[in-house]
Amino acid sequence: MPQGLAKKQTPLDVPLHSDVHAQFGRFVASPQTTGADIIWHEGADCAALRQRLMHQYPATLWLTGLSGAGKSTIAFALEKILLERGHSCFVLDGDNLRHHLNSDLGFLAADRRENLRRAAEVAHLMNEAGLITIVALISPFANDRAMARQIVNTQRFIEVHVSTSTELCESRDTKGLYARARKGEISEFTGISSPYEKPVAPEIEINTELCSIEAAAQTLHAYLLANNFIKSNR
Ligand code: ADX
Repeated sequence: MPQGLAKKQTPLDVPLHSDVHAQFGRFVASPQTTGADIIWHEGADCAALRQRLMHQYPATLWLTGLSGAGKSTIAFALEKILLERGHSCFVLDGDNLRHHLNSDLGFLAADRRENLRRAAEVAHLMNEAGLITIVALISPFANDRAMARQIVNTQRFIEVHVSTSTELCESRDTKGLYARARKGEISEFTGISSPYEKPVAPEIEINTELCSIEAAAQTLHAYLLANNFIKSNR
């Protein structure tokens, strides 16, 4: 490599935020006086322009379900389908967000709530920018998912329950986390030592015991088409 040129960093070369915390300490926000000292700056309303430019209405597909249920795999399969058809979209994956934006959060209920709040705010911003956003987070608590729906905007929020059973997720145990949770090495593990509250009325339920990942992603694509978020002639 020529001298003076920095080697291109791969994601694995980028220091994890834990290093940043070690150096700078954990950032703790002070309470904000919204509405009083901070004034919202209203730009021109460009939503319609963006929709015309991007040929789509933005939406957030919020995939909830146990660890190992297939959320991330379905999310990235859907992303590929949408991108190949010329749609602008992005996946917000729980594990990936926890490497960077949410690296200061654990798995206690308050941390999970903050995890969802941040993901929902980012999804909202991405929707404002015109993108279709696909969120894959366990999001085990009904109240927190209701909060996410409000933050994103009810009309754009599509709750998808990836309803693979605990038994099947545990038998797959792709990351070996269920076995470690059973041994008590991981506390507050969803489905084992922390509850998962099933959605009562999700817009879509996908049971990966009954369909392939590809079929699941196609179902979500079909939903976006049927509800006019996207058009088929792209
Ligand atoms: S959520 O509950 O806050 O929505 P999130 O989707 O961000 O969870 O992260 C879940 C991922 O973290 C799992 O896929 C798993 O790989 C990992 N993980 C580590 N510890 C736990 C735990 N105690 N409970 C659930 N998942 C955990």
